[in-house]
Amino acid sequence: MKEIVCVDNNWGIGCANRLLYHIPADMKYFKEKTIGNVVVMGLATLLSFPGGEPLKDRVNIVLCDDENFRKDNVILVSSLDELFDELKKYDSDSVYVIGGASVYAQLLPFCDTAYVTKVDAEKPADKYFTNLDETENWIETERSDEMEYNGLRYVFTEYKNTALTGGTENEG
Ligand SMILES: NC(=O)c1ccc[n+]([C@@H]2O[C@H](COP(=O)([O-])OP(=O)(O)OC[C@H]3O[C@@H](n4cnc5c(N)ncnc54)[C@H](OP(=O)(O)O)[C@@H]3O)[C@@H](O)[C@H]2O)c1
Repeated sequence: MKEIVCVDNNWGIGCANRLLYHIPADMKYFKEKTIGNVVVMGLATLLSFPGGEPLKDRVNIVLCDDENFRKDNVILVSSLDELFDELKKYDSDSVYVIGGASVYAQLLPFCDTAYVTKVDAEKPADKYFTNLDETENWIETERSDEMEYNGLRYVFTEYKNTALTGGTENEG
């Protein structure tokens, strides 16, 4: 299982249930990684999508403890236990945790990889991702060249959870 996220210099990810940045190449990267796969998200993230509709061409699993909530083409689960039961049906490598903050945080220890797009900017935020540079067992293993969109510089990075992967060749 992997997490995929876009953060800024403060590891901010959202404000008022919206993304902080909209970078087309990052959207494309997200789509390429997740298409045909399973995406796991919290209810707030689902509701932040246009029309509150699930992502096309992906299995959408949503953590939600509102038992009255209904949505077509979404698998609703009401606890982590229920989520893990559901995930038994899929290859773990095909499962992407796509937010938001509460779901990222709960599932981080169970993920082997995090794809982190880092935007070299700072905006007011009310939701944050865990700072992986200060988190035991997580190490940055890959980093793209720097890119720029509308004056925003950003890189694609990959972190590994050495507690699950047993370390990588990039470790010292
Ligand atoms: N930058 C990025 O890459 C990125 C990606 C995705 C989202 N975001 C941003 O993140 C923000 C949303 O994050 P968020 O933390 O507010 O919301 P969220 O994680 O998307 O969803 C929270 C919802 O999920 C439910 N939930 C979470 N864990 C659960 C569990 N174990 N069992 C049952 N229900 C559970 C919560 O229910 P209860 O609270 O009632 O338990 C709550 O209704 C938005 O600003 C969004 O734009 C950013």
